[in-house]
Amino acid sequence: MKCHDEDNEYPVLPIFKTKHGELNDPNTPMAKLQCETCHGPVGDHKKKAKKGQKKAPIRAFGKNAWTPIAEQNGVCLNCHLDHNRMNWSGGPHENEDMACADCHVVHARKDPMLEARSQTQKCMSCHLKQRAEFNRTSSHPIRFGNMRCTQCHNPHGSFSDNQLKATHKNELCYTCHTEKRGPLLWAHAPVAEDCTLCHSPHGSLHQALLKKRPPLLCQQCHAAAGHPSVAYSGSGLPSGTPNQFLLGKSCLNCHSQVHGSNHPSGVKLLR
Ligand code: HEC
Ligand code: HEC
Ligand code: HEC
Ligand code: HEC
Ligand code: HEC
Ligand code: HEC
Ligand code: HEC
Ligand code: HEC
Ligand code: HEC
Repeated sequence: MKCHDEDNEYPVLPIFKTKHGELNDPNTPMAKLQCETCHGPVGDHKKKAKKGQKKAPIRAFGKNAWTPIAEQNGVCLNCHLDHNRMNWSGGPHENEDMACADCHVVHARKDPMLEARSQTQKCMSCHLKQRAEFNRTSSHPIRFGNMRCTQCHNPHGSFSDNQLKATHKNELCYTCHTEKRGPLLWAHAPVAEDCTLCHSPHGSLHQALLKKRPPLLCQQCHAAAGHPSVAYSGSGLPSGTPNQFLLGKSCLNCHSQVHGSNHPSGVKLLR
């Protein structure tokens, strides 16, 4: 710290405002071997470099550092291989050779990963398709800083597909949309099966995150024949009897309980 003081080009000192700099907790790096816990033995690094030569290196962090990624991550995982990171190894981010320090900033008062806006900005800097989805007219309120990617995903890996935090997609949705869990007298089969049959989890151009608009949404599974199925438009239509009940909310004008019904006679999801 004689060299890495407040005048240093890299702001080292903010680490003392973080948990890693806490000296009273025996588990922190600063209470152990201090800077060397992470950066390794200082060795020749403190010697002045000979003329025309570079200073002896010390363990460095990040994608472009000379230290191999596995060695860098090993340092962090020495202390952080807990239930949140037990699937790091073999997970998609590890497979992409990402370093912990690609996302986390250790020498900062507040790690940007622990704040909603800076976290999602970082995720979206790589996940451009998802960034576009969250900017659609109907979306989970990520872009307003009211939600984080990590409410649904664990970026350190998980037991499920897509690094989801829950083992079943519906379990994930129920953690916030509890009223959809039921139990219901008359369940609608696809709702109990998988919310994403009808909803896109990130965002959509249709209201309520719907993948398609009714009646087409419903007609992916239900026959159009023998039932009001085509909206009245005033012009000649290809098939079926045009019906004004399919305007506006479409099938939901009558089948309003699309997520299931608790009414004794709600078997057709009408009430
Ligand atoms: C918890 C592990 C950890 C501890 C403890 C730690 N560092 Fe770091 N250090 C890092 C990481 C990770 C980086 C990469 C940038 C970042 O995250 O801020 C880094 C970056 C640096 C850099 C910039 C290096 C470069 O390549 O530009 C310097 C200088 C530095 N640390 C010095 C120190 C000093 C001095 C101490 C002790 C006061 C210290 N570090 C303690 C993890 C640590
Ligand atoms: C010597 C053990 C040790 C090492 C090495 C270590 N950490 Fe930590 N880290 C801790 C402790 C202890 C805490 C505080 C945990 C707590 O209070 O719950 C912590 C907290 C954190 C937090 C949460 C900070 C907060 O404000 O809640 C992050 C993020 C983190 N460490 C990332 C890293 C990264 C990235 C590395 C590697 C560059 C690393 N750690 C290396 C011990 C370590
Ligand atoms: C893709 C970006 C990314 C990478 C890579 C990453 N993290 Fe994280 N990490 C996060 C985010 C985002 C959070 C905040 C989680 C939340 O909001 O609940 C976090 C939280 C943490 C925390 C504090 C909360 C907790 O989960 O215990 C620790 C400790 C941590 N990470 C350690 C690591 C270590 C060690 C590595 C490398 C093996 C690593 N992280 C790699 C994004 C990342
Ligand atoms: C409300 C929960 C939720 C939030 C918040 C969320 N996701 Fe997702 N994400 C999901 C679900 C569920 C899937 C699985 C998609 C499927 O099966 O149709 C998924 C899938 C993905 C995938 C895999 C490819 C794809 O699009 O199907 C990526 C990458 C992804 N999410 C990144 C992100 C990023 C980045 C953020 C934050 C900007 C984020 N997610 C926020 C629920 C969420
Ligand atoms: C440096 C670029 C980068 C950053 C930053 C990043 N990711 Fe990724 N992520 C990737 C790559 C590359 C993959 C693997 C390829 C893929 O599936 O898109 C991946 C995979 C994923 C997957 C699994 C996708 C699947 O198909 O199973 C999810 C979910 C995800 N990332 C979420 C996040 C979240 C949340 C954050 C922020 C905390 C984040 N990512 C930050 C590059 C990044
Ligand atoms: C971490 C909490 C959380 C999780 C998990 C979550 N949601 Fe949401 N959801 C919200 C919030 C917050 C809103 C916005 C409510 C608002 O704008 O009033 C929302 C809005 C919605 C809406 C749109 C409501 C409307 O009227 O436009 C739908 C549909 C939805 N979520 C479906 C899902 C599905 C499907 C899943 C599972 C893949 C899921 N949600 C997981 C918190 C969550
Ligand atoms: C069969 C298709 C379908 C499935 C499956 C489905 N939904 Fe919906 N959902 C809809 C439709 C259609 C609307 C629009 C309702 C309206 O316009 O009144 C909607 C609206 C919503 C809304 C906003 C309005 C409200 O009722 O609160 C939320 C939240 C929601 N769904 C969550 C979920 C969750 C969670 C699941 C999984 C348990 C799920 N949906 C499964 C079709 C479906
Ligand atoms: C992913 C396929 C799927 C989608 C999309 C879907 N449903 Fe269903 N629906 C089903 C299945 C499966 C059943 C159960 C059929 C049975 O038990 O015979 C069902 C049952 C029903 C029933 C009760 C039928 C009966 O005979 O008791 C009604 C009414 C209904 N759906 C209306 C809708 C409406 C309205 C929509 C659009 C908002 C919709 N469904 C979207 C698959 C779907
Ligand atoms: C004008 C009101 C109305 C509209 C609009 C409507 N339905 Fe129905 N639907 C009903 C009624 C009433 C029944 C119950 C018939 C019975 O009990 O015999 C029913 C029954 C059903 C059934 C159960 C199968 C059956 O024939 O009994 C399904 C599936 C269904 N509707 C799907 C849809 C779909 C999909 C749409 C949109 C394309 C839609 N409905 C639009 C009133 C409507």
